[in-house]
Amino acid sequence: MIETKHLIKSFDGKKIIKDISATFEQGKTNLVIGRSGSGKTVFMKLLIGLLTPDSGEILYDGRNLPAMNKNELNALRQKTGMLFQGSALFDSMTVMENVMFPLTMFTRETRQKQEKRAKFCLERVQMKEAADLYPGEISGGMMKRTAIARAIALNPQYLFCDEPNSGLDPKTSLLIDELIHDITQEYSMTTVINTHDMNSVMNIGDKIMFIYEGKKEWEGTKDEVMNSANKKLNDFLGASDLFRKVRELEQ
Ligand SMILES: Nc1ncnc2c1ncn2[C@@H]1O[C@H](COP(=O)(O)OP(=O)(O)OP(=O)(O)O)[C@@H](O)[C@H]1O
Ligand SMILES: [Mg+2]
Repeated sequence: MIETKHLIKSFDGKKIIKDISATFEQGKTNLVIGRSGSGKTVFMKLLIGLLTPDSGEILYDGRNLPAMNKNELNALRQKTGMLFQGSALFDSMTVMENVMFPLTMFTRETRQKQEKRAKFCLERVQMKEAADLYPGEISGGMMKRTAIARAIALNPQYLFCDEPNSGLDPKTSLLIDELIHDITQEYSMTTVINTHDMNSVMNIGDKIMFIYEGKKEWEGTKDEVMNSANKKLNDFLGASDLFRKVRELEQ
């Protein structure tokens, strides 16, 4: 479980993250939703330690990230998988080499064992056949799957995805969502996903936090999101075609 307590972050005197206390549960896909500019990416960077909070705590199974020493941070890094906007694959490396990268960086396993693990991960995302291709030779969805294989190579306990569906068609988005959801349950990871894809909310929103102008405005499950009385949340959802249709059908 990951917990934040009274998390605050400002840039140039302007508060961007305003006192967010939240919990992200193990074995669940925890979604963070909100308008563009509401603070989702900044919040995720704070969670990962890519940004330092002005104040507040970020607890990884009870241990406070801002107070960790270098060794603790390194250990945590190895238990953390990340999937950022765009796939951030290395263009000069094959699919297989991309997935091997964290294994060669962070483990002292034999080459043979590393390759076995990389192959296993590629198989899990159904990318084994494309192992020898370069990122320039595969589709956007395949790049995302490769990035997922790389993210899970070290068997992470924590997985962070910032807009994993950006640039993908709805059908591919659904596959990627389901893949992330499945591996989260399979490996009992604590997964946090930033999204403004309403399909994702409905499909894999085990738990949803809605951020509005840097504040936690609402939280609940995908079943609760449809019937919430929160006006800001409803305004946000109202902008989505999918939600309008579901609401119309219900009335
Ligand atoms: N390094 C930075 N320096 C100054 N301001 C920043 C920095 N990073 C983010 N911001 C500001 O923080 C606010 C929140 O940005 P953030 O990227 O977290 O939004 P977001 O919810 O992820 O939006 P999107 O849905 O478009 O990705 C924005 O106003 C942005 O300009
Ligand atoms: Mg963002």
